[in-house]
Amino acid sequence: MQKYLLLRNPGHNRVYYLESEKLALAELTLTARRFEQPCHHIESIDLAGINYLAFTVEQILSERELTWVSNLSFVLALFKHSGDEDHPTLQPVELTPRSYVDPKISMLLKYSGKTNEIFTRLMINVGLISSDFQFDDPVQMLDPVSGKGTTLFEGAIRGFDVTGIEMERKLVHETTIFFKRFLEQEKYKHDLLKNAMYASSAGSEAFIQLFEYARNKQDFKSESSRKHLAIIAGNAIHSRRYFKAEKFHLIIGDLPYGIAHGNVSQKKHNSRTRSPAELMETSLPEFQKILKTGGSLVLAWNTFVWPREDFVELLTKTGFQVLAAEPYDQFTHRVDQSIKRDIVVARKD
Ligand SMILES: C[S@@+](CC[C@H](N)C(=O)[O-])C[C@H]1O[C@@H](n2cnc3c(N)ncnc32)[C@H](O)[C@@H]1O
Repeated sequence: MQKYLLLRNPGHNRVYYLESEKLALAELTLTARRFEQPCHHIESIDLAGINYLAFTVEQILSERELTWVSNLSFVLALFKHSGDEDHPTLQPVELTPRSYVDPKISMLLKYSGKTNEIFTRLMINVGLISSDFQFDDPVQMLDPVSGKGTTLFEGAIRGFDVTGIEMERKLVHETTIFFKRFLEQEKYKHDLLKNAMYASSAGSEAFIQLFEYARNKQDFKSESSRKHLAIIAGNAIHSRRYFKAEKFHLIIGDLPYGIAHGNVSQKKHNSRTRSPAELMETSLPEFQKILKTGGSLVLAWNTFVWPREDFVELLTKTGFQVLAAEPYDQFTHRVDQSIKRDIVVARKD
């Protein structure tokens, strides 16, 4: 038997860290389902005043298992534990995370309404684990409410091809400028194409900013090693118009909170104050079509403005299989006075 201890990243957001222990345990429990061997005693423990998450496996982690552990959203360090209770010994294990793009990308920007990047990483992990797909698959991920791109950047870190839809043109513009500068500064070979997309009537026009990029010239030459990050200035309710059926392995997003962020006026009924229920009623049937069979959808929302049962009922009615058994019921957490956030995880079978 080999016991491992994980140290959690204190992150940049203290409130999230304090609330996130049970989320981390739930994510670890799901991750262990991808191990090739049984995993026991997943628990939170204190050692010399420091909190760790612990788990025990029969043999040391395989390369593949270590990759899953290294990609956990919260992981800062991993140790092999030996010795007894009075004389424990911790041996550091080098992590092997997948990172095509430097993970600092999603930490650089700070703005009101940003989704915490560690939480975003958790949603992506939970989505991937709950789907039929692996890290090595050529994953296509959509964030239909992409804001200033945290999900897109977290997907790019993993080496996924990512697409966002955002209705606020200013946010699309700012995200495009930011990513272009990042690619230039980090010396990625890249191209940016801007194209109009499907429009049937005035007011429903959309356009796409498509980045093609690679770490070097050689990779850029071949379509198979080139990466893609696209942002559509459009509306999630028209998703089906933008994409072919069964395009995406994952759909991940942090829905509008139904409250105003920052200096956006409370009275103004714009995208940031819109109820997630209203948006989901029109968008879920579209998401169902563009998600691959075996793919999964993970959406975060404010349970104060829309009860979980109603969201689950709508998903089920639309044809999704909602994953509700433990630990999927462990993700609720308080963000602030007006937001109690939860995630819903559903599959297309
Ligand atoms: C909670 S924010 C997402 C924040 C994002 N994860 C980030 O970290 O930047 C939700 C976003 O959804 C956008 N939105 C709301 N309704 C939308 C719709 N129908 N189609 C596309 N985007 C929409 C809002 O403008 C807002 O930027």
